Amino acid sequence: MRHTKKIFIFNMIFIFAVFSAPSASQGESQKTATLIINADQDSFKISKHIYGHFSEHLGRCIYRGYWVGKESSIKNTRGIRDDIVSALRKISVPVLRWPGGCFADEYHWKDGIGPLSKRPALVNTHWGGVTENNHFGTHEFLDLCQQIGCEPYICGNVGVGTVKEMKEWVEYITLEGQSPMANLRRENGKDNPWALKFFGIGNENWGCGGNMRPEFYADIYLRFQTYVRNYSKNKIYKIACGSYGENYTWTEVLMKRAGRSMNGLSFHYYTVAGGWGNKNSATEFGEKEWFDTLDKALFIDELITKHSTIMDRYDPEKKVGMIVDEWGTWYEVEPGTNPAFLYQQNTLRDAIVAGTTFNIFNRHGERVKMANLAQTINVLQALILTKDEQMIVTPTYHVFDLYKVHRNAVFLPMDMDSPDYTFEDKSITQISSPASKNSKGEIHISFCNLSPKEPVLVTCHIRGINAETVTGKILTSDDMTAHNTFQQPDKVKIQNFDDAAMENNTLKLGLPAKSVVVFKIK
Ligand code: AHR
Repeated sequence: MRHTKKIFIFNMIFIFAVFSAPSASQGESQKTATLIINADQDSFKISKHIYGHFSEHLGRCIYRGYWVGKESSIKNTRGIRDDIVSALRKISVPVLRWPGGCFADEYHWKDGIGPLSKRPALVNTHWGGVTENNHFGTHEFLDLCQQIGCEPYICGNVGVGTVKEMKEWVEYITLEGQSPMANLRRENGKDNPWALKFFGIGNENWGCGGNMRPEFYADIYLRFQTYVRNYSKNKIYKIACGSYGENYTWTEVLMKRAGRSMNGLSFHYYTVAGGWGNKNSATEFGEKEWFDTLDKALFIDELITKHSTIMDRYDPEKKVGMIVDEWGTWYEVEPGTNPAFLYQQNTLRDAIVAGTTFNIFNRHGERVKMANLAQTINVLQALILTKDEQMIVTPTYHVFDLYKVHRNAVFLPMDMDSPDYTFEDKSITQISSPASKNSKGEIHISFCNLSPKEPVLVTCHIRGINAETVTGKILTSDDMTAHNTFQQPDKVKIQNFDDAAMENNTLKLGLPAKSVVVFKIK
């Protein structure tokens, strides 16, 4: 789809058709939004790591997800599924966090090296008490990252681990010369070290990672991080365990006591509409649950703002990155599945949550340097679902595909006048939209329409460019619960979006209800 300035006459017929369509708001006036994008105002670069992922030894994420073993009839490379690797390569995954999560604070890395037959089988105490055979360990994870082409982010064991164990893990992976750990790595078939940049010192140490007070963890952090060394040419970016939700005290104490000894401070937030005791179904919901989910997802904006304000006090130059290394929707598990496996379906609603959340991360890009969706395969807001040899991608996967254009691009400041999306007595913004400019000078603008019923006529003035062409892609469906299944894998997929026009550096479009749209303008 391509419109040139010359040949395109703004399609009034389309606009009439879209905005005269029956909707819940019949009788109300047609909704409009106006944006001014300042393409000539340089700001900050959006970190590509904001589009990162998280994979834990939980349910069917690692085993029966990535890992099928070399002997499997499913096509694999050294035990790792080829179809999954190629799906993740397609969206250019920038970074992958592993092995947990709660699992990380009970994981002993030495159990996961050497011949598979000699690795001990253990109980995964956090996630269903199932057998963990340790067949997927350090070598397999780093091989996976190399196959995908992403950076590894390893989370170390503070909960039941020792300083020595953590120190030796980093030495095993990264030391080039002679040392007991480097030599052990060589015995296990890897002569040269791997590059490892991101290393987390514990996970949720206020909870599953040891139920610590922030003061206690800050001291522990300072001790552990001392021995997370830079060997050879490797340079580690140290990430301290951060807060969850509204626990501002944790951020305050960590920044005050240890802010100068960290590169990143993590932060977790899950969208749990209905609350932990009354979670929503992933696929069976009405507009109330749709609204509540988006309302809860948008709350991350306020959380990031408030945690950032605290960080600013101790680190006004924004040297410490906020690392949102767990986020996403959390529903009831699919009926009939193991509750400890956290397996849930993924609908268009999740796609809108993803797009809206990315918009928030992009806007906070001066502080937010990484984010990792929980979790890549078969767990929580997954990108990929598997059933034996079958594999499908979810609507959330498609949003990562659409939004990859913003990675490493310059964030463009904008003013937006968005209508509200109101349900019963509550209102949220109806449109969320970031824009960025890449190194080729191309501009990308994304739009999420949060309303499941009402389209919006959007007028977007772009200052500081001389635009020639616009192309667009859309993710939407007639049904707000639409999702991909093993029977219908392409029910929700990316399509070309033709119903927009560019004239005199003004983009006009009819933004359909419940949609994610991305435009390229050059
Ligand atoms: O992602 C599932 C779990 O949620 C993680 O293991 C933990 O860190 C968080 O509470």
